[in-house]
Amino acid sequence: MNRVPLLLLLLVPDLVLCLLGRRTDAFLTRGDTNSTSDSSGPPDADLAALVRRVDRRFLSVTIDASLASQEKFVSLLGSPKIRTLAKALSPAFLRFGGTRQDFMVFTPQRCHRDSGVATDESCGGVELPSWLEDKLKKEWTQQQLVLMREDQQKKYKRVKFTENTVDLLNSFSNCSGMDLIFGLNALLRTADNSWNSSNARSLLQYCESRGYRMSWELGNEPNSFEKKAGIRVDGSQLGRDFTRLRDLMSESKFYQNAGLYGPDVGQPRDHRTDILTGFLQTGAEAIDACTWHHYYVSGRDASLEDFLDPDVLDTLTLKTKEVLKKVKLVSPGKKLWLGETSSAYGGGAAGLSDTFIAGFMWLDKLGLGARLGLDVVMRQVFIGSGFYHLVDDNLDPLPDYWLSLLYKRLVGPEVLNVAAFSDFGRSKRVRLYLHCTNKQSYRGGAVTLMSMNLSEEPARISVPALISSSTVDAFVLQSDQPGEAGLSSRSVKLNGQLLKMVDDKMLPDLKGTRLPPAEHLQLPAYSLAFFVLRDARAAACR
Ligand SMILES: *[C@@H]1O[C@H](CO)[C@@H](O)[C@H](O)[C@H]1NC(C)=O
Ligand SMILES: *[C@@H]1O[C@H](CO)[C@@H](O)[C@H](O)[C@H]1NC(C)=O
Ligand SMILES: *[C@@H]1O[C@H](CO)[C@@H](O)[C@H](O)[C@H]1NC(C)=O
Ligand SMILES: *[C@@H]1O[C@H](CO)[C@@H](O)[C@H](O)[C@H]1NC(C)=O
Repeated sequence: MNRVPLLLLLLVPDLVLCLLGRRTDAFLTRGDTNSTSDSSGPPDADLAALVRRVDRRFLSVTIDASLASQEKFVSLLGSPKIRTLAKALSPAFLRFGGTRQDFMVFTPQRCHRDSGVATDESCGGVELPSWLEDKLKKEWTQQQLVLMREDQQKKYKRVKFTENTVDLLNSFSNCSGMDLIFGLNALLRTADNSWNSSNARSLLQYCESRGYRMSWELGNEPNSFEKKAGIRVDGSQLGRDFTRLRDLMSESKFYQNAGLYGPDVGQPRDHRTDILTGFLQTGAEAIDACTWHHYYVSGRDASLEDFLDPDVLDTLTLKTKEVLKKVKLVSPGKKLWLGETSSAYGGGAAGLSDTFIAGFMWLDKLGLGARLGLDVVMRQVFIGSGFYHLVDDNLDPLPDYWLSLLYKRLVGPEVLNVAAFSDFGRSKRVRLYLHCTNKQSYRGGAVTLMSMNLSEEPARISVPALISSSTVDAFVLQSDQPGEAGLSSRSVKLNGQLLKMVDDKMLPDLKGTRLPPAEHLQLPAYSLAFFVLRDARAAACR
């Protein structure tokens, strides 16, 4: 299949996509050149092969534990608006974790059942009153300054949380159809530096008594425990700690089959890979998936150019391959997840991570990550501190929210291979990914081509005979403002229509533009697009 080095392969029969441009002709073609001549034949034959299949919750989200730095802020999860937005992204995992999880101590109150807006067992029965929502939003803005200072000084206060936090997280995830993953504190240690599980035990007992279906993690970025808390924990010790947690879970009928994920290590750099290897040697048996974190750039000095730079986007390939290699070596077959990921670390880059331009890193990560071998990608954050959120501090959806929503609606878990070659090398600025279309939205056999146009150079995707006789539903996202200025806009248009919620409980219709059979797909400059090829009749997608 890889005979021609610059060949990008497509498992759609007879689909030859050409990027025709000024001095750059690129072609997408099927792997076996055998049957391309017969474009009228049944397309099934060559389409059985999938590259791979990812978890149906592939696109997942996180809530940073800093939201619980004061328990009252967790009540924001009772907002009807935020619930509407979350529900539309399900199925997904909801990871609650981050730096502050390792400073949180469960401190039961016992009499908590009388404490107001906390629980909502009927989903929608109890809502956060709007006056309280407004008050909390204001206070949250202030709280973020406090959190930022803590992060800068790397001095973290111990945070006590009660049943309320767990109740709210559970009701939020349960009512929005997301699967909650709760990150436990790994920095509670005994004198011999092994994990002290007694606090986790009482939390698990409480959750079991309430019947909360959830899964677990232990520790966040153990590679920086020393910097954050002056405690050094090596990989093999951490692996033993996970084994301890697994034993604890096995004692419970309720959690004996629940998921456990870890070690949530930062991306490979210096001693971090040693932590991962050591961890897997002692702890691989305990976990259901191995998690690591990835950011492209630092929030402090990231530039607009970084966000559009194909070389920056390609660094994900390198890092992922490095981690995959380690995991395959020590525990072959173990699933690999991005347990926390976004554009820029350190809270994101203001004016970039929260604007239209962030979509290029996000969509590319989703496309590339699925193809490379990741099974789940958890976006930091759904809501909460920093600039990389999907939903802003007023609880309004940002461009990456809408992008995520389209991805959920249109993209299925089956990954197909797409590739392009050009006379002059790979066309790096037009990036393409191909999956089966989500079968809940379209009938079987349809495929979704995801594309990004990072370029100003003229080029077009030309669609050959078989597919050009298929109708195409195009979903093209662009900034609401033209040109470079538009890149840092917080609003986005779908096929020319500004996207916004109809009201707190309703999202707009996401309508595609039906393109008549044609030979070309056009991508405006700086656009993100999904093309649903409705009649592709891909056997792998039946
Ligand atoms: C090409 O077609 C022939 C005859 O149908 C078949 O035997 C052969 O396996 C095909 N080659 C590839 C690479 O699919
Ligand atoms: C929500 O909770 C109920 C009761 O425990 C359970 O039956 C249901 O499966 C849960 N739904 C989700 C999406 O977790
Ligand atoms: C673990 O923590 C609990 C609660 O803080 C404490 O009572 C207990 O002594 C600790 N156990 C060990 C072995 O350090
Ligand atoms: C990408 O955008 C540029 C600038 O508008 C355009 O010239 C080019 O044709 C687009 N590429 C594709 C593949 O449509």
